[in-house]
Amino acid sequence: MGNEGDAAGVGATAGIDTGKASIARVYDMFLGGKDNFAADREVYETIQAVAPQGDEVAKSIRRWLTRVVRHLAGFEVGIDQFLDIGSGLPTVDNTHEVAQRNHAEATVVYVDNDATVAAYGRALLEENDHTHFATSDLRDPAALMATPQVARLDFDRPIALIQCATLHHIDDEADPVGFMEHYVDALPSGSYLAISHWWDPGDELPEGHLMARELEQRWRESSMGTGRYRTRAEIAALFAGLELVEPGLVELNDWWPEGPRMRETSLVERLILGGLAYKP
Ligand SMILES: C[S@@+](CC[C@H](N)C(=O)[O-])C[C@H]1O[C@@H](n2cnc3c(N)ncnc32)[C@H](O)[C@@H]1O
Repeated sequence: MGNEGDAAGVGATAGIDTGKASIARVYDMFLGGKDNFAADREVYETIQAVAPQGDEVAKSIRRWLTRVVRHLAGFEVGIDQFLDIGSGLPTVDNTHEVAQRNHAEATVVYVDNDATVAAYGRALLEENDHTHFATSDLRDPAALMATPQVARLDFDRPIALIQCATLHHIDDEADPVGFMEHYVDALPSGSYLAISHWWDPGDELPEGHLMARELEQRWRESSMGTGRYRTRAEIAALFAGLELVEPGLVELNDWWPEGPRMRETSLVERLILGGLAYKP
């Protein structure tokens, strides 16, 4: 992919709708990836026109995910089962790489409903016997959990469920609070849920509120057609009664940063919150 002429042919054979942007490919562009079509580049450019630091957002999301997975797989918590929903295209520091660096036998099941991820990502994500990939729609938890790949997780032992930068692509009509309850109910005691989600800060950060409204409109008017900047209360509701661990639901760079801050966080980078919660 990456070249429109060749890409159209490759996409057609893989059953990919090349005329419509895919968030998996657009996000990959923000991370510096080259696997995209003209429709993806159009969305990327319309977002960059308002928020030129979009690449920093994608990188801070991946850094946050790395810190969360390292913490969970490491000695302090010791989780060895990860369900990464909306995995995206393989990139640097994929969940299984971080988890298995800290816990060699950690099992990681990736799920995504994107045709490009299924066609090109599967082989890279299923790198060893402990990593698996399933194609499924996260809006239907019962179907997703019934896939053979997810069903191989042991639901009698703690699992880390990851929804990193996924739920803001889900419209309210799909009832994300309702289906997240379904996932949380299925998790055994001792499990964790990690969510990062675009944030509309409202009065807490008025210039951020204006940018969130503008960005949401651009995402929704794009060929992708989805995108929601939710309030802090709306994002907190997705944790379905779990106990948020310190420092709670915060801007990503404030969630256990690795060291002193060496640069100013851009406004758009502040428009996403992350939290990790525990099921007692
Ligand atoms: C912004 S990317 C995030 C990728 C990865 N989680 C990360 O944080 O780097 C969002 C991912 O969610 C996936 N996604 C969006 N809606 C989905 C759905 N209804 N079911 C499954 N996956 C979905 C997209 O295909 C895409 O790969």
